[in-house]
Amino acid sequence: MTGYLGKLRLGVNIDHVATVRNARGSAYPDPVRAARLAEQAGADGITAHLREDRRHIADADIDALMEALTVPLNFEMAATEEMQAIALRHKPHAVCIVPEKREELTTEGGLEVARQENRLAHFIKPLRDAGCRVSIFIAADRAQIEAAARIRAEVVELHTGAYCDLHAEGRFEERDAELERLRDMSAYAHSLGLEVHAGHGLTYDTVAPIAAFPEVMELNIGHFLIGEAIFRGLTPAIAEMRRVMDEART
Ligand code: PXP
Repeated sequence: MTGYLGKLRLGVNIDHVATVRNARGSAYPDPVRAARLAEQAGADGITAHLREDRRHIADADIDALMEALTVPLNFEMAATEEMQAIALRHKPHAVCIVPEKREELTTEGGLEVARQENRLAHFIKPLRDAGCRVSIFIAADRAQIEAAARIRAEVVELHTGAYCDLHAEGRFEERDAELERLRDMSAYAHSLGLEVHAGHGLTYDTVAPIAAFPEVMELNIGHFLIGEAIFRGLTPAIAEMRRVMDEART
């Protein structure tokens, strides 16, 4: 199963528009406005993470996104009953299950699927039955991929955070080893029938090698794009990411 599998989708994560809004408790900047602009700029989907502590995206943002979007919403959430109920009420196109710790700055690692297979299998079943595509955010690790396939997730999103951190720290040998692991595990997940996505920490400097993996169908990118929008505007920031991705793909 090799060869290019179609256009690489870009999911734009708008969480950090809400971070800026929430820093002052104001009504602006509005993440829904950002999502609409992202659609116009070529995003194939919008990603939003409703965290347990609501530090960025709020419940009302999810309501408003479900109303406003013309592209699919990828709803990132922890595997909790509260989040499952919210997802079942909205039935977004996709649900991405992520690990969540209150004290972390961002999603630090992938989900530990292998050690909680039964619980997760039961957790995702109603979501699948409701028509949501269930994605599991995991490290590029064989055991986690196999467990994700066994619990009948449709998608795995491979965590690119370690690769991006190693790049930023100039640890290029280790970065290249992590890239190799991501490449091998993309192919392995695909061979098990899983759709492969990737994301976390990606920038213009790090996106191309990941975009070039033929099995990767979607990248989810947020923090860098929202930061870059300060300097060039959201539409050009996204358009440039799209360009770099498309160039890597061909
Ligand atoms: N994918 C997943 C599963 C995530 O949790 C996040 C961060 O919310 C992203 C992608 C986007 O990461 P970043 O904001 O670093 O681009």
